[in-house]
Amino acid sequence: MCSIIGYRGSRPAARIIVNGLRKMEYRGYDSVGVSTLYGDRIETRKGVGKVAEVDKSLHLSAMSGTIGIGHTRWATHGGVNSVNAHPHCSNSMKISIVHNGIIENYQSIRQQLRGEGYVFKSQTDSEVIANLLQRNLELTGSIRESILRTLSRLEGSYAFIAIFESGTIAAARYKEPLIIGLGQSAYYLSSDVLGFSDHTEDAIFLGDKEMVLIGPSGMEILNFDGEPIQPTITKIEHELTTVQKGEFSHFTLKEIFEQKSTILRTAEAPWYDSKKMLDRLSSCKNLYLTGSGTSYHAAQIGSYLLSKYAKKRAEPMIASEVQFLPHFLDDEAVLIAISQSGESADILGAVNLAKEGGAEIVSVVNSPTSSLFRESSYSIGLHCGPEIGVAATKSFTSQLVAMYRLASQLSGRKIDPDFKEVSAAVSKVLSNSAKIREIAHDLEAVSDVYVLGRGIHFPIALEGSLKIKEISYIHAEGLPGGELKHGPLALMHKDVSVILVNPDDCTHSDTLTGAHEIKARGGKVIGISNVYNDIYDSWIEIPTVHDAMFPILESVPLQLLAFYTSIQKKVDPDYPRNLAKCVTVR
Ligand code: AGP
Repeated sequence: MCSIIGYRGSRPAARIIVNGLRKMEYRGYDSVGVSTLYGDRIETRKGVGKVAEVDKSLHLSAMSGTIGIGHTRWATHGGVNSVNAHPHCSNSMKISIVHNGIIENYQSIRQQLRGEGYVFKSQTDSEVIANLLQRNLELTGSIRESILRTLSRLEGSYAFIAIFESGTIAAARYKEPLIIGLGQSAYYLSSDVLGFSDHTEDAIFLGDKEMVLIGPSGMEILNFDGEPIQPTITKIEHELTTVQKGEFSHFTLKEIFEQKSTILRTAEAPWYDSKKMLDRLSSCKNLYLTGSGTSYHAAQIGSYLLSKYAKKRAEPMIASEVQFLPHFLDDEAVLIAISQSGESADILGAVNLAKEGGAEIVSVVNSPTSSLFRESSYSIGLHCGPEIGVAATKSFTSQLVAMYRLASQLSGRKIDPDFKEVSAAVSKVLSNSAKIREIAHDLEAVSDVYVLGRGIHFPIALEGSLKIKEISYIHAEGLPGGELKHGPLALMHKDVSVILVNPDDCTHSDTLTGAHEIKARGGKVIGISNVYNDIYDSWIEIPTVHDAMFPILESVPLQLLAFYTSIQKKVDPDYPRNLAKCVTVR
């Protein structure tokens, strides 16, 4: 998703901005741009491609000036081209802006401004911000007033940063993250702490409906009513500042291998105010779980575990669907909101809706500085460290660990996971990566992959198929094994591969039935199981653990299969096409 960054200080701004944008590349983008203020002139350079490529061709880093803004764009309104790339300048060229989010009423604003003589160069929704600021500045003569008036006109979600010819940098946020970094006589503004974490660990997390003005006389934070806000300065966690691939070729591979330790970190992390949180969870009348993509699959597993062990019915809901569902998110409900980033617009939307209805929020989140964390009454931290690869890997197994812990606590330890055993078993699966790589070789040419699992293994099948889709670019579908005969069997032929998530538990023999049905139609079968069966064309062995704990182990070979297939296909698994790590649009 789009990343925005700004700098005002005494050093050349462009180099700092370009480095910050590189640090945030993991969020996903298609084009790049920078504006700097040099003397009383705003210069803008922007183009399509990776930060390094555009920097090389347009010499972004060499731009002069100590005040600047930068952007990486993930196209929503308007095609991928340099005109639609940010920054966008106002018609007077005296204001330049970068924006993350969506201005829902941009068409009516554009129409109004066109009527007043303004000209629009791009197809973006964002360009209206620059021209509205110009209009309001010309009307009021005050930057502060121009921003407040502009904010009162914008609908949708946004974080934007603007530079003004007079030397002021300003920013505002509504439903999109924006953080201020405080350096030695320097200010940084960014959508992600990684944008400035090389320079300072002192940060102010701007609240929703807050804006900041930074000029020659210092910094002023206001709410959207123009009232001053007393900011809280937070120290950024050290681990957020160190993201390196180390000995690994890709972040995704590093993060898959980290799971042997991240599982334990999540298992051992203290829960703040856990007694109150557990009481609230056990006493609530209606319990819901929500998440998007991978995090939704964790919600499905959570629902299964809470029902089975804690005898607590907990309905899983896809975050983007919550707005359309008939539900009872009222003051008798608790919503467990699961998210790696804590910034996905869909989950924040679901949380807002739940809070409006009076429900209480328990977040399960990796980023302790995220909007979701701040929106929740209680939070369970994943503590698995920054996840850079777009495909969620270690955050998923940590989310599962959090769900197991919750089920254990709420059931009076009817399930009592031995996470050390699980971590050792994960190490064993990882030590088998060479064999998994060989199996991935055969997947490269396959047109479709089906991943089958029953019961608690069905969400793992969904998660495995999501990994294959997003980083291997192969059509993949997760299915409950029993559904094969109700339709998908029509699709089985010799170029199809089917992965069975099939440990030796109550689902085992039923899942094997599906394997026979597939084999009879020429499909290839890869079995992920702790027991061998000669129906498998390839067998990925996982260790035997307590029945309930298999899902964590099964996830790892599926991640490795997706990773190695992407490498075979020369896809960059860290930055798959069209996808973003943190999806901040709805
Ligand atoms: C998973 O591999 C995906 N990248 C995606 O489905 C992701 O899990 C989803 O966008 C939710 O993100 P979040 O956990 O940060 O909210």
